[in-house]
Amino acid sequence: MEFASTYQHSHLERVLFDQASIRERVAEMGAKISREYTGDGLTIVAVLQGGALFMADLIREIRLPLQLESISVASYHGGTSSSGTVTFNQNRLPEVEGRDVLILDDILDTGRTMAAIKAKLEGECSPHSVKSAVLLSKKIERAVEVEADYVGFETGDEFVVGYGLDYRGHYRNLPVIGVLKPEFI
Ligand code: IMP
Ligand code: MG
Repeated sequence: MEFASTYQHSHLERVLFDQASIRERVAEMGAKISREYTGDGLTIVAVLQGGALFMADLIREIRLPLQLESISVASYHGGTSSSGTVTFNQNRLPEVEGRDVLILDDILDTGRTMAAIKAKLEGECSPHSVKSAVLLSKKIERAVEVEADYVGFETGDEFVVGYGLDYRGHYRNLPVIGVLKPEFI
């Protein structure tokens, strides 16, 4: 048994990715990133709150010197579908001038969040390069033209929680990723 039968686990209808699969895939992604970046100019920019767990696990699989920054945005505003607007929650942007930036987020859905962050960093922070990595990528038509450079898993068009992903602020600490039972939505 991978975890105690917490209230949270009992809210899941299905587990899509268990702890072992996430661990294995994140290690593969870290190895690939380690091969493809050179030098000491890498800055990881984690998208909070959802990207925090992915960041913590992934950076320990990257065998390169790196710096850590974060950015806080809101696009869901508590529901299960994207609101269409991306709000930046901080005044101070990451210091990434001349650096190779790798943005990390939990999931690529409409693409609006990733596109907005990329545009903001490129437009205002003078990085050397900007790429992105997401643990999950929904197989849907994006609202804007953006794809991630590194993708952990592809998923269907359904709302998922766990491993950083929330529903109204809950379930982020679930160690697995799954689909909620309809009665909890
Ligand atoms: P996008 O801007 O539509 O690509 O949405 C990306 C953001 O929406 C992610 O950073 C997540 O916070 C959130 N999101 C998208 N899909 C899901 C989901 O299935 N579960 C939980 N959060 C999601
Ligand atoms: Mg998010």
